[in-house]
Amino acid sequence: KTTLISKLKETIINVPDFPIEGIQFKDITPIFLNPKLYEEVIEDLANFSRGKVDAVVGIESRGYLFGIGIAIALDVPFILIRKKGKLPPPFVSEKYDLEYGTSEIEMREGQIKPGQKILIHDDLLATGGTTEAASRLVEKQGAIVSQFSFLIGLKDLEGQKKLEQFGAEIYEVLQF
Ligand code: PRP
Ligand code: MG
Repeated sequence: KTTLISKLKETIINVPDFPIEGIQFKDITPIFLNPKLYEEVIEDLANFSRGKVDAVVGIESRGYLFGIGIAIALDVPFILIRKKGKLPPPFVSEKYDLEYGTSEIEMREGQIKPGQKILIHDDLLATGGTTEAASRLVEKQGAIVSQFSFLIGLKDLEGQKKLEQFGAEIYEVLQF
């Protein structure tokens, strides 16, 4: 595990002041140049969730990169959360607040079944706003948010605190 974390820290590129000043952007794209490393990440994330969830929900777009891999490794369905306006009806949606204005996420109706235990996966936990909205979208369809997993957690932004309300396990492969 420590070797996986150090390999990832060598691979992920920190880009200061992108997309705006003061933000330390984490470029994860080099991970996909290394299939063996990608497999190790999937194995680590799948180990956290194995036997514990009925389906994986991934958040557009970077949440798909590992989310599908996790779902295949666990042999459970993968369900996409999309940004507003991309899905044909019928869909269910959830609004949430951004720093400026609001946004909306959507999911095809009926793909989540009431009572299912759900893993919500995304590449990055920052403020937690996106994942919080995803959780409400899952819960309002009668399913249970059992777990959250992220490739990266940003320690300074207290996203974990925002997710405490859902009472689910949280896993981050590595933190910055
Ligand atoms: C980024 C990241 C997470 C989210 C984290 O996605 O991939 O989904 O922000 O931020 P939060 O914890 O403050 O909500 P982004 O909206 O940039 O889109 P992308 O995944 O399509 O690149
Ligand atoms: Mg994203």
